[in-house]
Amino acid sequence: MKVLITGGMGVIGAETSRKFVKEGHRPVIFARHRDDSLVGDILDKIDFEQGDILDMPRILQAIKKNKVTHVVHAAAFVGAVSASNPALSVQVNVMGLVNVLEAARALDVQRVVFTSAKGVYGPVTGEYGSPTWKLIPEDMPKQPKRIYDSAKFMGENICIYYSDNMGLDTVSLRFASTYGPGKTARHGPMAVMSRIVENPANGLPFKLEKGGDDKDDFIYNKDSAAGIYLATLAGKLKSRVFNIGTGVGVTLKDFATVIKKHIPTAQMDIGDGLNFYGFPYPATGVYDISRAREELGYKPEYDLEKGIADYLTSLKRMKATA
Ligand SMILES: NC(=O)c1ccc[n+]([C@@H]2O[C@H](COP(=O)([O-])OP(=O)(O)OC[C@H]3O[C@@H](n4cnc5c(N)ncnc54)[C@H](O)[C@@H]3O)[C@@H](O)[C@H]2O)c1
Repeated sequence: MKVLITGGMGVIGAETSRKFVKEGHRPVIFARHRDDSLVGDILDKIDFEQGDILDMPRILQAIKKNKVTHVVHAAAFVGAVSASNPALSVQVNVMGLVNVLEAARALDVQRVVFTSAKGVYGPVTGEYGSPTWKLIPEDMPKQPKRIYDSAKFMGENICIYYSDNMGLDTVSLRFASTYGPGKTARHGPMAVMSRIVENPANGLPFKLEKGGDDKDDFIYNKDSAAGIYLATLAGKLKSRVFNIGTGVGVTLKDFATVIKKHIPTAQMDIGDGLNFYGFPYPATGVYDISRAREELGYKPEYDLEKGIADYLTSLKRMKATA
């Protein structure tokens, strides 16, 4: 097989590229900009094609030239920046996906894996919210509120359309709240669970006025990458959409406790209460991941202790090689 990863140098894309390399593949990364900062350790094991997902001939060319059999679509105009430019958000996140699907269909790609997001659910209320935190199944009603989340939901539906009507196999993965190296620089305020690690790692205080008791499903990006890898290689699947998270509710106060074990001098000041994202509605909750476990064989490897330890080690490695 030959995999092309759009956005393969981004936060999730880089871990995905690394996962494919680790499993013996040589992925082709397709991205608008070359940015080696998160893939410095695997540069000799990947190929790079510069291009924009809005440029259909370029996607066709990259797929054809590299004899691509599978596509992971991880290029996107992400949440925080999407909000201020809805037209570009729809263009990149919806039409960019359509271009990828069209190119894949034209060149007989075997599967496209689409990276969706928890935001498609919109407000998390009733028994799924505080204090009961019932696990969120894939069929919980969807009411996306932000333009990015609406685009992601449309993307999932487009993928299903292509599978049902255009003969192209697709899988959509709805990631929980992700954390891992790189997110602070790229995702602005949405990167609170990265700042909570990176501030103390850089000797800076971390302060959050409220939200320390909010539970959310925090997935370390090596697990996100594992989910993508499994979904790419899985045989014929019964479902087309999967929750990819940990299935465990964790608070930012839990983050602080683990970080202090590594950095006892860390200054962490986290207020009580809910809604650490500061959204106008409750947006946190915990995933039911049984579908991914059963159909993909997905099993999260990184609980909070292991995720934070790996995150801090990665930051040290990145500093040393910068
Ligand atoms: N990080 C998260 O919290 C999170 C959560 C859920 C879902 N997702 C989804 O996972 C995927 C990857 O997210 P990420 O965090 O790695 O994002 P990122 O912003 O770190 O990386 C996105 C990459 O896409 C590339 N890109 C953007 N626009 C492009 C275009 N028009 N043409 C070609 N390349 C383009 C950029 O160069 C960048 O490397 C996205 O689809 C995102 O929506 C992310």
